[in-house]
Amino acid sequence: MASKIIFFFLFILFPSQFHLCGAQTLVKAGYWYASGEFPIQDINSALFTHLSYAFADVNASNYQLLIPSASQQYFSTFPTIVKRRNPSVKPLLSIWNGISATGKSIAGENVNDSVLSSMVSASSKRKAFIDSSIKTARRYGFQGIDLFWVWPNSTDLSNIGVLLDEWRAAINSEQIQPGESQLILTLAIRYLPTIEMVSYPIDSIRRNVDWAHVVAYDYHLPTRENFTGLHAALYNPSSNVNTDFGIREWLNKGMPPSKLVLGLPYHGYAWKLVSSQDNAIGAPASGPAVNIDGSMGYKAIKSYIRDYGYGATSVYNATYVVNLLATPTIWINFDDVETIKAKMSYVKEKKLIGFKAFQLSNDDNWVLSRAGSSRRGKPIKQAAVVA
Ligand SMILES: *[C@@H]1O[C@H](CO)[C@@H](O)[C@H](O)[C@H]1NC(C)=O
Ligand SMILES: *[C@@H]1O[C@H](CO)[C@@H](O)[C@H](O)[C@H]1NC(C)=O
Ligand SMILES: *[C@@H]1O[C@H](CO)[C@@H](O)[C@H](O)[C@H]1NC(C)=O
Ligand SMILES: *[C@@H]1O[C@H](CO)[C@@H](O)[C@H](O)[C@H]1NC(C)=O
Ligand SMILES: *[C@@H]1O[C@H](CO)[C@@H](O)[C@H](O)[C@H]1NC(C)=O
Repeated sequence: MASKIIFFFLFILFPSQFHLCGAQTLVKAGYWYASGEFPIQDINSALFTHLSYAFADVNASNYQLLIPSASQQYFSTFPTIVKRRNPSVKPLLSIWNGISATGKSIAGENVNDSVLSSMVSASSKRKAFIDSSIKTARRYGFQGIDLFWVWPNSTDLSNIGVLLDEWRAAINSEQIQPGESQLILTLAIRYLPTIEMVSYPIDSIRRNVDWAHVVAYDYHLPTRENFTGLHAALYNPSSNVNTDFGIREWLNKGMPPSKLVLGLPYHGYAWKLVSSQDNAIGAPASGPAVNIDGSMGYKAIKSYIRDYGYGATSVYNATYVVNLLATPTIWINFDDVETIKAKMSYVKEKKLIGFKAFQLSNDDNWVLSRAGSSRRGKPIKQAAVVA
């Protein structure tokens, strides 16, 4: 027999540092929230490439970074502690100064949502802010800076474009010390690329940031609406308020997928149902359940389900990509493992570069973080016939 058949089976098994296209390492990032009372040393850094300290504030009179004195001790030790379990994880310093959609300050009392607006509006203020951000990051051993400004208005948007140009120039011209590398610059962006009909400065963003992460959650809140709604749906056949719609808008407007990271919520929202007979999506509700704004961390939701016992089962809905739990009185929507996995398949499909979780203390024994980061490359089978 002269003919010889050789099959080549090429199994490409990616190492835990999953590589996309052989070049780009998947970004596996998360926020550690200083007021969450979750010890830094309990973060499983091995599951992440980047960990953000949340948050530094901005001083309303001199525009330099401000670390609330209560969290000073965490701030100064964060980079060292997260590197113990994973020396290659990159600690990022995240800056915030706004009020969340719920109107609730998540960064402590003295929140002033016009500080960032004021800062970006004048060159001298931007300079004070930029210089201080770089100096502070270096002094404490952070390897990058993140701006988490989720509620800019339309006037702020073009100023953000200028800020990013100046910030990038300052980072590029910094004198790098031995053992250091250039600081990373990242930006939180809303799920839609326009605010009040004005577009985000997409050219400046793509030019200047290492990546932007989409805040793909908090779309519908029980404090704001009296109908149950999905706060982080990937799809929605009957509405444009969903992550896929937003991502496609960003991509259509020229944002490269290689600069986009998907935000994953480690929280859900609980609504009070008006009628035990109607627990559909869009059912009448009468505000938040369980607590003042209805927000519940994933861990708290799982424990609520366990404690409730018989009759409380959450179901995964693949049409919207969400987990739902309805009791006769309460309706909760959240991201469980199936949801996170489906969102990570979406990341791959759209060639985005990773995820950023908000926020880590709400995970339950790292199951969501593992679901986000453990996806391996599928074996690629190639057969060749040689006669
Ligand atoms: C809020 O920030 C603006 C702009 O920096 C400043 O003028 C104002 O005094 C601040 N308000 C408070 C209460 O700190
Ligand atoms: C903010 O900056 C002003 C002016 O430099 C300074 O007097 C003030 O102490 C700073 N605020 C805090 C809380 O550090
Ligand atoms: C945006 O916010 C800033 C600060 O609060 C304010 O001065 C400005 O007028 C606002 N612009 C719009 C279009 O609302
Ligand atoms: C929702 O319903 C509750 C109770 O009926 C009411 O107090 C609240 O004002 C309503 N909220 C909104 C946003 O309509
Ligand atoms: C998801 O929910 C919708 C609306 O309640 C329902 O029509 C659909 O069958 C559900 N899909 C799955 C896959 O469960």
